[in-house]
Amino acid sequence: MRCLVKYRVGRRSTSREGARNGPQRVERNEAALIHMEGAGLAVAIVEGVTMADVYGDLLEALEPDRRAHSLAAGRKAAESAMHVGAALRADLVAAAVLHDIGYRQADTEFHPLDGARFLAGQGFSRRVCHLVVHHSASTYEAEERGIGLVVYREFAVDEDLGAAHAVIWWADMTTGPQGQDVTVEERLDEICARYGPDDVVTRFITRARPVLLAAGQSPVGSIQVRG
Ligand SMILES: [Fe+2]
Repeated sequence: MRCLVKYRVGRRSTSREGARNGPQRVERNEAALIHMEGAGLAVAIVEGVTMADVYGDLLEALEPDRRAHSLAAGRKAAESAMHVGAALRADLVAAAVLHDIGYRQADTEFHPLDGARFLAGQGFSRRVCHLVVHHSASTYEAEERGIGLVVYREFAVDEDLGAAHAVIWWADMTTGPQGQDVTVEERLDEICARYGPDDVVTRFITRARPVLLAAGQSPVGSIQVRG
């Protein structure tokens, strides 16, 4: 896998050894695990490095509000990472913080697909791309845009990532446009007000509302995606 970032890293039990050895190049996914330290899940210690440090180079192309929303959703997902299997946690956090990265370049104007393709090009795992392309009931928006669900086959996986989808959808649906905590009802109402009644996004949110309201109740559960 690519996506390497340079940090001073030491394993939890050998941090002195890590410091002696100096900076190493580590995968973003490995660095992402530091953000789970509060849940006792860390495998790497990177002193003073924040989620913004790890993903900031990718997020900087987003407008400031979108960047704040992304980082907050990523932190929220990291805090709930214990709800998915250990082997999935780093991909979960990467996908959560980068779920809106498709707004940085509008190839198809459908940001979940643009984002997944961008991340695939950056060397992120198929899991991360799958989680991003499906985030927050995106298939409903695809249908509103006349995009066939066949495009989702590009990022199909042969494992059940339902628990990870649940965490990401919940994190996105309870994080406002500036990164503030909101209820899912407030989130959906704000999106519709921001885009206006005739916009494709409002039509998508209105149709997907029952699904998104359910997703925004809890990070615990499983969401089986379509497509
Ligand atoms: Fe989002």
